[in-house]
Amino acid sequence: MSVAALPKVELHLHLEGAAPPAFIAGLAKEKKVDIGGIFDAKGDYKYKDFWDFLKVYEAATSVLVKPEDYYRLTLAVLEESAASGVVYSETFLSPDFCGGRDVGAWREYLHAIREAGEKAEATMGVTLRGIITCIRHFGPDKARETALCAAETAGDFIVGFGIAGDEKIGKPKDFLWSFDCAREAGLRLTAHAGEWGGPDSVRDAVRDLGVERIGHGVRAIEDLALVDELAESGVVLEVCPGSNIALGIYKGWRQHPIGQLYERGVKVTISTDDPPFFHTTMAREYEMLNRAFDWDEGVFAGIARASLDAAFCDADTRERILKKL
Ligand code: ADE
Ligand code: ZN
Repeated sequence: MSVAALPKVELHLHLEGAAPPAFIAGLAKEKKVDIGGIFDAKGDYKYKDFWDFLKVYEAATSVLVKPEDYYRLTLAVLEESAASGVVYSETFLSPDFCGGRDVGAWREYLHAIREAGEKAEATMGVTLRGIITCIRHFGPDKARETALCAAETAGDFIVGFGIAGDEKIGKPKDFLWSFDCAREAGLRLTAHAGEWGGPDSVRDAVRDLGVERIGHGVRAIEDLALVDELAESGVVLEVCPGSNIALGIYKGWRQHPIGQLYERGVKVTISTDDPPFFHTTMAREYEMLNRAFDWDEGVFAGIARASLDAAFCDADTRERILKKL
């Protein structure tokens, strides 16, 4: 059996970032809006670096303007996940893009996303849960509004709160109010760090925001004392190797630190981040890691189990998914 066929748990996937380029191009055509310049000659997303990627991401997202658009997007994304053997997916959702952080509008988008998730569960066998994400470069004031949307809709589907965006802007503690608000609403917490920031950015996120998972976190490898602290405390890293390589943080799969982090006892999980932007899928991530580190089925099964343990869903959902692993 190829490792690509194993059942998988994905914890770090941006819903808009997972939009197939043909889906976005089709929607732009239907709505007669010009988002020209974001695709290359083959119809793939085109960007120069991470900061340009964020701009292209936001331009692509600008055609998603109705709950119905998100219903279709969610189904298109989950089809790709299911084709890769994903049985459980936690997806970052942004009220910034879904109704401009207005709670009433956000509820309508959420309803559409949830309905698509239920359809995908029934027809494709992949279970969806949402993590509401504020966007760092939009600033702490907008993040508060996002956190209020999160607190209002926390429950069995919206299970977490996090932060994405440009890690070079501001500090985790600027967003403390938002994270406290989400925590008080019963949401579990994660933050992007250690992707564009060094080891200190990981320390800051864990210490100042009290998150139990870190999005990426891979640059912790530059400080082995921190790696040992992460291993000891059980903080989970949502590692997205294909994303890091496509964005030029590491030169290739063998140079990626996931192997060393795993060897040193850090709880690593495997995700795709924004798969079509990085020309990847969960099946490809597994295949490339198998080749680079000689990881066998047993290693991947252990990582899938650790990922499910780190998932933010309730115990009944976890039990149900466990039977599929
Ligand atoms: N938003 C979408 N993908 C992201 C990434 N890799 N880092 C930070 N913010 C993001
Ligand atoms: Zn991400």
